[in-house]
Amino acid sequence: MNIAFLLNGESVELAEVSPTETLLDWLREKRGLTGTKEGCNEGDCGACTVMVTDADGTRALNACILFLPQLHGKAVRTVEGLSGPDGALHPVQQALVEFHGSQCGFCTPGFAVSMATAHLNGDTGHKDALAGNLCRCTGYAPILRAARAAEDRSVPDWLSADRDFRNPEIADSRSPTCHAPETADDLARLYAEDPQATLVAGATDVGLWVTKQLRELDRVIFLNRCADLQRIEETDSGYRIGAGVTMDRVHALMKPLCPSYAEMIRRYGSTQVRGAATIGGNIANGSPIGDNPPALIAAGATLHLRHGDTRRDLPLEDFFLDYGKQDRAPGEFVEAVTLPKALDSLRVYKLSKRFDQDISAVCGAFNLTVTDGIVTAARIAFGGLAGIPKRATHVEAALTGQPWTEATLEATAPAWAQDFTPMSDMRASADYRLTAAQNMLRRALAEDMGHATSVLEVSP
Ligand SMILES: Cc1cc2nc3c(=O)[nH]c(=O)nc-3n(C[C@H](O)[C@H](O)[C@H](O)COP(=O)(O)OP(=O)(O)OC[C@H]3O[C@@H](n4cnc5c(N)ncnc54)[C@H](O)[C@@H]3O)c2cc1C
Ligand code: FES
Ligand code: FES
Repeated sequence: MNIAFLLNGESVELAEVSPTETLLDWLREKRGLTGTKEGCNEGDCGACTVMVTDADGTRALNACILFLPQLHGKAVRTVEGLSGPDGALHPVQQALVEFHGSQCGFCTPGFAVSMATAHLNGDTGHKDALAGNLCRCTGYAPILRAARAAEDRSVPDWLSADRDFRNPEIADSRSPTCHAPETADDLARLYAEDPQATLVAGATDVGLWVTKQLRELDRVIFLNRCADLQRIEETDSGYRIGAGVTMDRVHALMKPLCPSYAEMIRRYGSTQVRGAATIGGNIANGSPIGDNPPALIAAGATLHLRHGDTRRDLPLEDFFLDYGKQDRAPGEFVEAVTLPKALDSLRVYKLSKRFDQDISAVCGAFNLTVTDGIVTAARIAFGGLAGIPKRATHVEAALTGQPWTEATLEATAPAWAQDFTPMSDMRASADYRLTAAQNMLRRALAEDMGHATSVLEVSP
């Protein structure tokens, strides 16, 4: 596959790139740009953070799980490109110096790029912006002080070339083993012809198959150029979210519509992960601990699948059949998911050992309709309690028609064991998971009764 992109302000054209060569390896091994560091090589530490700009804006992404074909037509800036042509430091670099934001320096390039990206976007939520960057020795306080100090300093002129860069015309980029279709129609045709090909959307899962499991992917179809998969449309019945919509865009959509769901997404991976990960990838991977499915199932979402020209819709909960098994035929892909408009009563709670950037031990979503103090309808779904994201149908039945009170919660106790037999693993024991799930329902009640709750505080 042939690709072209802008690297630190200079055009780069590459012929016949390997579909699974990561940007990090290429930068370090082929370009000698070793400022971008390799820490974990799995999207967790942020040492490899680069700034990527396209028509949708500028994002910080992890270069270790970004494949070269995903960069076609974009502008990439590494830590080497943050300072000016005359060597002038970027304001965040200057602030890191002034506030002693670096000791051994291994993490510093990643921090500097994340900070410069937030600075460019006028994002002053520094803790969230830097949650995907780990530092072992400095401590975060001096780094946050530096980020705050740089807020009022101007974005340097030399970064403007990235915004002005447009997708260049380059030679035909098709190859028998790697495709990057530009429409869902083309994708549907290609995938129906070659159902054994691997679909790659944001690569936040697939990237790890390559970097950690050392898997060879024979044939790859990239989804990131299908503009129609990246649309969010408001319809009469709800919000149709294309499979290629990234989690940072789902977050922006949910902030006004359902703050509780948005708050969960704030803790979904990190800024770098949310800028790449798609909602379609999170559904299609069928993970029992994926964070979107419980929320979407509780909301009553409809999944839109497509094979060639044939489309079918199903309630999202019916898509997950068994551990590792989904209702998806060879050559069929997730085209979109539609969320109903009424999201006022949806509450989503993520429980993980670490507040930021951690996979959930349990993720619970509650959508209860309460009329005159009586539960008249209930949709409750969990991740982390079974081999699939699953509805708590017995608990729902035990609640429906009952007063929305502590006594009713107590009475649901036998129903939990009918719905779930969770397993114990390194994240949590079975007992812990079940108890935590029941406490989440208690939390929903507490919030409905007007008590603010927070997983960051212990209250008597
Ligand atoms: C550091 C880190 C933190 C993470 N934190 C979280 C977290 O907090 N919560 C969470 O839920 N997940 C988390 N993840 C997992 C991952 O980010 C999500 O599952 C993500 O949404 C996957 O989307 P993607 O676009 O990157 O998928 P990809 O990696 O591109 O693909 C994932 C799978 O889905 C298939 N696929 C992709 N798109 C489609 C489609 N449209 N139709 C059919 N098949 C498709 C691919 O073939 C592959 O099998 C994390 C991952 C990393 C690396
Ligand atoms: S090397 Fe750790 S996130 Fe990329
Ligand atoms: S300065 Fe050493 S890891 Fe951050």
